Amino acid sequence: MFIHKCERVDENLAIQFSNNNEANFSLFWLRDHSTDQSSLNPDTLQRDVETFSLPTVPQVEQFQIINNGAQLRIHWLDGDLVSEFDASFLFNMACTPVNDPSYQLWANELQNQVPDFDFEQVTANDAAFLPVLESMDRYGLVTFSGMPSNMEATKKLLNQVGYIRDTVFGSLWDFSNNGAHSDSAYTSVGIGLHTDSTYTLDPPGLQLLHCLAFDGEGAFNQFADGFKVAQTIKNEDPAAYETLSKIKVPAHYIEPGIQLRGQHEVVREDINGQFEQICFNNFDRSPFMLSASEQKAFYHAYGLFQRLINDPKYQVNFQLQPGRAVWFDNWRVLHARSAFSGFRHLAGGYTNREDYISKKLTLKGKTPWQE
Ligand SMILES: [Fe+2]
Repeated sequence: MFIHKCERVDENLAIQFSNNNEANFSLFWLRDHSTDQSSLNPDTLQRDVETFSLPTVPQVEQFQIINNGAQLRIHWLDGDLVSEFDASFLFNMACTPVNDPSYQLWANELQNQVPDFDFEQVTANDAAFLPVLESMDRYGLVTFSGMPSNMEATKKLLNQVGYIRDTVFGSLWDFSNNGAHSDSAYTSVGIGLHTDSTYTLDPPGLQLLHCLAFDGEGAFNQFADGFKVAQTIKNEDPAAYETLSKIKVPAHYIEPGIQLRGQHEVVREDINGQFEQICFNNFDRSPFMLSASEQKAFYHAYGLFQRLINDPKYQVNFQLQPGRAVWFDNWRVLHARSAFSGFRHLAGGYTNREDYISKKLTLKGKTPWQE
């Protein structure tokens, strides 16, 4: 990308790029994003400029296109500073069309195609783990085979992404149908599709479930792509989608000495309009009131979401056996478990979403401001 032309228009610089895209950059924005060492830490890219002390219209002594259009140089009168902006940076900030999302929506066609990885192979080193993260990015759901039936293996897998998130259930946890906590996970009853920890302010990003032992019948895990269901509703019932993306639903978790509360929209988009997070757990929903019309719209939209995720055509399901683990994106994929008999012992843990993204970006060698 190159800068073809740059001219001053009022309080802006109007830039024409080599592909004929045009964008206006206010002088204030350019000064706020100055790349000189007193304005931007070159190692951490933290802003050192005193934004709120800048004049409303910073004064420019001179601006010029340099390096055959690869950069724009601005000499500011204020502080005798020089900023040099890469053409690609300016283009990406102003003109880049929204990229296709990295996720691929799925329904039950994924049933026999959930990416499966050999535990020993992918935990050999960081680079070997990248395909796991890429599949997680695409589907939000991967499985592992060949895992030793111990919690060292659970921990090793979680630590491939980062530190294990501590919660009221512990950090690295294991559970069986022994009723150790109030949560229904600690029983053998069926649990319907949900995302975890809607009662926290920041629901965990990834969840790992590792089967250490199972001697019984049932316990099928079901998964549904919340983004797929959200897209379906967005296409077919825009008013319901609007409701799901606007109304925050409160949730709670109660046990002696603990009272957690959070509230989230069922669907949340990022600043580019792509799906970012699904929060849905009817079991943990708290009492809340809406106006009569909002309440009707909410029950309709919430019920529609619930019906679609429970439609088998949107689900994949399988039974975890000892030596296998499933890892899923709790900001996207809803999970459930059918009732079972006998004894089942699982281990698992959560990692924060930002740590997963950090690991993915660093392994991919992405530079800042690239996704
Ligand atoms: Fe759960």
